[in-house]
Amino acid sequence: MNRSARVQKLLAEMPPAEKLGQLQIVFRPRHDDAAELIREGLGSIFWPRSAAATNALQRVAVEETRLGIPVLVGLDVIHGQRTIAPVPLAQAASFDPSLVEELAALAAAEARSGGVTWTFSPMVDVARDPRWGRVVEGFGEDVHLTSVMGRAMVRGYQGDDLAGRHAIAATAKHFVAYGQPEGGRDYNAVDVSEHRLRNIYLEPFRAVVDEGAAAVMASFNTVAGVPMHANRRLMTGVLKDEWGFPGVVVGDAEGVRNLLPHGIAEDLTDAASQAFRAGLDVEMGGAPSEVADALLSAIDPARLDDAVARVLALKESLGLFDSPYASETDELTAPTDAGRALVRRAAARSSVLLKNDGTLPLGARARVLLTGPYADSTDHLGAWTQSFGADAETIAGAFVARRPDVEVRVVPGVDFLGEDASGIPAAVAAARASDVVVVLVGEPSALSGEAASRSDLRLPGRQEQLIREIAGTGIPFVVVLETGRPLVVSDWIDLAETVVVAWHGGTEAAAAIVDVLLGDVDPAGRLPMSWPRSVGQIPIHYAHENTGRPATTGGSLSAETADIGLHGPANVADKYTSKYLDLELGPEFPFGHGSGYATFAHAPATLSASSISGAELDGGATLSLSLEVANTSARTGDEVVQVYVEDVVASVAPPVRRLVAFERRTIEPGRTTQFEFEIGRDQLGFWAVDAAPPAFVVEPGLFRLHLGATLASTQAVDLRVV
Ligand code: NOJ
Repeated sequence: MNRSARVQKLLAEMPPAEKLGQLQIVFRPRHDDAAELIREGLGSIFWPRSAAATNALQRVAVEETRLGIPVLVGLDVIHGQRTIAPVPLAQAASFDPSLVEELAALAAAEARSGGVTWTFSPMVDVARDPRWGRVVEGFGEDVHLTSVMGRAMVRGYQGDDLAGRHAIAATAKHFVAYGQPEGGRDYNAVDVSEHRLRNIYLEPFRAVVDEGAAAVMASFNTVAGVPMHANRRLMTGVLKDEWGFPGVVVGDAEGVRNLLPHGIAEDLTDAASQAFRAGLDVEMGGAPSEVADALLSAIDPARLDDAVARVLALKESLGLFDSPYASETDELTAPTDAGRALVRRAAARSSVLLKNDGTLPLGARARVLLTGPYADSTDHLGAWTQSFGADAETIAGAFVARRPDVEVRVVPGVDFLGEDASGIPAAVAAARASDVVVVLVGEPSALSGEAASRSDLRLPGRQEQLIREIAGTGIPFVVVLETGRPLVVSDWIDLAETVVVAWHGGTEAAAAIVDVLLGDVDPAGRLPMSWPRSVGQIPIHYAHENTGRPATTGGSLSAETADIGLHGPANVADKYTSKYLDLELGPEFPFGHGSGYATFAHAPATLSASSISGAELDGGATLSLSLEVANTSARTGDEVVQVYVEDVVASVAPPVRRLVAFERRTIEPGRTTQFEFEIGRDQLGFWAVDAAPPAFVVEPGLFRLHLGATLASTQAVDLRVV
């Protein structure tokens, strides 16, 4: 890798001990320790403070150390710094990558203005198990959606030039397959085939590395028995050698030390030497000197220089050598009006209308009851907002402010987690005296995020009982779900005709929910993850392989079916097929599900040719798939067109469908617009892992392109690759 003159000069001047300082980032430093650590040569630090405090620390690095190398200031800026945006899973639901880019750019500008130069985001772990609390931090179950949103976030954070005053270095995490821990339990082992590793878990990382992500973070999990912090095959072999990643591979918090309980290292020296030999460049931990001492005796000089050069190059690209300080007068310490408007729009656009019998938008209703624990809660920021985020307001407050003409009652009835149902009768009485009820329920922010796996995905506490009792009044009602993950809603969903998922929408969530309720914004997001019927169905995702015995009907356990043993009546259709005896087929709501307030008609889709040769595809040729969509309603609305590929016959069992393109567009009433998608090698191929190294191939044969507004409402066009 080419090293700049500055990096070469510094490397030549640094003794090994000084180099090792560059390979550490310390998190949670005590205020009084931080300056001392830097004086001793620490290269990077978490420093969640103001521009002035960060500058004071930077001054120690620049003025009081021998070579004056500035520090990198890291922080988990995950979905906003001051102005908190919807959680990343919600951002994915927007199906709007340019919005995601704008949100990341806002977060970057606020963070950099306070001296932060390095974020540990985006999380591009494909996640197919909603028990895992960290699904909130990523973009859901789909490889393509995750890749597109990951790229958008990297562009937003890094801009065109990392040295710009509004840019911060992005970190793609967690490398790799952290999103599929056994049992959905955080940090748990992962054992995944090479086929899935290449086609599912590595793909989004390949995309964001291609987009120029400055760093990649190693994950806590093992892959086939090898902890990722010591996984040379993947960190060096795939990421650095095969993909040519020029940036920094940073460890996760104490990930090197964790190699001891993983049972692959005898002591810290052993752990550190395994990690750095495997390709780690920076260790993240709380006790720098111990690891540095351990490393000193363990790391090979060329590997040491490679790691240090990567860190110095990152500092250089951030412009820190020339301009190490943040402007204290330009620090953005509170949300601006423009920032608030952006996150409000984002929260509304991320909302997903699961079903609607016409109760939404609310229209002219004189008496409205807001019930459920979210009615008067400010818990809208979601996981990972640190102490910087501007507080959110309550939905009750936002509603009353917007509609002073409406008689609004606020009776929460239950709290989030408690078993006390004594408030429900008051909510029911208030419902009977209202024209419409909005039931604001969900999973509070603390139940998703890191170390927040759940084994039961129903609404906690007595919230389901509240929904059932409100349904019993016969008064029209709407359920608004705030959540950081897919929930199991089967016990009550058939009682509710109008349900919208608002996720955790951030600083302006309350105003955005009111925008959606009143119809000012079209909640036309789509689910980025399937919502299971039951925890027993997990993992459940749309892009599964078919079995040799696909089922056509779900099981329903009854006296009759329970009697059917191995030798049961042969006329019972569908007995020996892949399903659960006690569940309907498929999820409650699939990936891509959602609608909106407007209605659309899709014309038959056309493809520019019905066949193409492999050679043409290899040469970069693409076909154009187009579709006319008309807004048939009287209101402006958003349509999301999704394109899925079905590889009808392949050399390995292909996923039944695979999202390869999508676009969200706003269409005026009565207008028709043309969607166009390019179909080429990238959309039709997959990684064949029997070649060494694995090869991206397009196999000849029949492909079926499905496109529509959801997975369930698609039309198909055939394409033959010859
Ligand atoms: C642990 C988490 O896994 C990671 O995502 C995060 O960046 C680090 N802690 C630092 O806070």
